[in-house]
Amino acid sequence: MSQQDFVIAPSILSANFARLGEDVDQVLASGADWVHFDVMDNHYVPNLTIGPMVCKALRDHGVTAPIDVHLMVKPVDRMIADFIEAGATSITFHPEASEHIDRSLQMIRDGGCKAGLVFNPATPLHLMDHVMDKLDMILLMSVNPGFGGQKFIPHTLEKIQAARTRIDASGLPLRLEVDGGVGLNNLAEIAAAGADTFVAGSAIFGARQASDPHAFDTIIKQLRAELTKN
Ligand code: DX5
Ligand code: ZN
Repeated sequence: MSQQDFVIAPSILSANFARLGEDVDQVLASGADWVHFDVMDNHYVPNLTIGPMVCKALRDHGVTAPIDVHLMVKPVDRMIADFIEAGATSITFHPEASEHIDRSLQMIRDGGCKAGLVFNPATPLHLMDHVMDKLDMILLMSVNPGFGGQKFIPHTLEKIQAARTRIDASGLPLRLEVDGGVGLNNLAEIAAAGADTFVAGSAIFGARQASDPHAFDTIIKQLRAELTKN
């Protein structure tokens, strides 16, 4: 896989919410590709974050990069409609959180966004079997969803390989995204297992140092360097 096919998507869950626009501008200027936008509802997951108003605020602020909305909410359909309206580029949801997976995926595509399913560490991959043609991406959680800063679950590497096999067998151009505990220490092996899109929250925003205005440039360069190792 060539370098330009790899996508680095900082999760703004670890950004400074008091200066979110600036943080997003900075990581994008430092070479990040997408903005990963974690939506939590204190129902599907035990945490509460940000909604469509914040997505729209980033668009109004001038963010033109893809906004990758990861819905950790139940039910999902109302939020799909709201995020389409708010300027999302892609919308992924957890199949357990939708009564009608096929319909929810279709809603996303009908709204002009890219669609994806998210698999928790214990969610079996066969849930994608009958909707492959409605997917643009698959997101594998390498932690249980709800919080940033958790440790990567090593067993995910086998699941990435299994998902890669399914995608290749389908012949469809689906992206394979991994989210949770991704950083310099494991990026190369996550890519080697078959992922092409990498969410990193604490690894990127945690690299911030008041004394170093180029901290985001440095960490994103280092992450890209890891991707050349395979
Ligand atoms: C977890 C979120 C992740 C999280 C990643 O529920 O979906 O996007 O913010 O954060 P790190 O990279 O710190 O694990
Ligand atoms: Zn996420």
